[in-house]
Amino acid sequence: MKALILSGGKGVRLKPLTNTMAKQLLPVANKPILFYVLEQVKEAGITDIGVIIDPDTGHYVREFVGDGSKWGLKITYIPQANPLGLAHAVKTAESFLGDSPFLMFLGDNLIEGGIKAFVDEFKSALPNALILLKKVADARAFGVAELDAAGKVIKLVEKPKVPKSDLALVGVYLFKPDIHLAITKIKPSFRGELEITDAIQQLINDGKTVDSHILKGWWLDTGKKDDLLEANRVVLDDYLKRDIRGTVDPNSKVSGRVYIGEGSLIENSVIRGPVSISENCQIKNSFVGPFTSIGEGTLIEKSSIEHSVILRKCRINNIERLGDSIIGSESEIMKQEPGFKPLCLFVGDNSKVVL
Ligand code: G1P
Repeated sequence: MKALILSGGKGVRLKPLTNTMAKQLLPVANKPILFYVLEQVKEAGITDIGVIIDPDTGHYVREFVGDGSKWGLKITYIPQANPLGLAHAVKTAESFLGDSPFLMFLGDNLIEGGIKAFVDEFKSALPNALILLKKVADARAFGVAELDAAGKVIKLVEKPKVPKSDLALVGVYLFKPDIHLAITKIKPSFRGELEITDAIQQLINDGKTVDSHILKGWWLDTGKKDDLLEANRVVLDDYLKRDIRGTVDPNSKVSGRVYIGEGSLIENSVIRGPVSISENCQIKNSFVGPFTSIGEGTLIEKSSIEHSVILRKCRINNIERLGDSIIGSESEIMKQEPGFKPLCLFVGDNSKVVL
């Protein structure tokens, strides 16, 4: 069995961060989202992986993931010239996939507890497709499934204006090779894309078996700013363990589940977990509160930060309340005069904000 991981697209909803980065490489708890996906695919026992990349950001993916050998994986990169839809991505990967059954995993989706159980379910039941569904509050932003009383999938619609159910299609799919024929029968959707949702509907129309599984654990689709913050919160909350590798001076207090990477220094500060501080950071005269991730080489002085994602090599100075913010790498945020209002920022890479 093979896997196809989608790590292309333009990441429009995460600009400006995605001007200099593939969205799947943005960090959640200081680890690129794509790395969680690769680990989960490995855990499911699949090692032959095609990774769809975008011509503009593909080199970042190649740089981060390499040939996959550090995970024991074999990676084949497949450039997709234009983001023309998930079914178009499958079409682009057709020669890699051949006649193998495959797992398709969207590289910006995170799933609690991994996917091994679904891969095993697919291997034993061998339907033409197995899809994952999750109950959501507003299904309009997703592909939506309608099930009959027995739980069988009867209809799938991509981004319906009036959803027939609250069951969204999660970005993890398992297919037998006859999906390729179904894709040849569909037309581009209202958004000009060849939708995998329509291809799966085509399988149903052709009388093929499409099984579904309703996910109980969390599912995070990290395509937007608030989703990324939420993913950071959930992953820190569920997975982070206390591990202090850097130096904490006697005037500092580090409480709860906090990771402090090697070479980092905490001076006269309070760190209240869950917090992940990467390598070679300096935190001085500051407070770092729950659900914050700080990227490698960042310097924070005389500031208070919580519920935020700070990428690598940033400088934050004299900011008395920073919350719900994502700060791109190598940004500088400084405040000259003390003020009273909380700051809520969404700043791209190489920015400089002086307040
Ligand atoms: C895509 C699929 C959609 C699915 C979603 C999950 O949407 O088209 O059916 O529910 O991924 O993340 P897109 O991210 O292209 O808007």
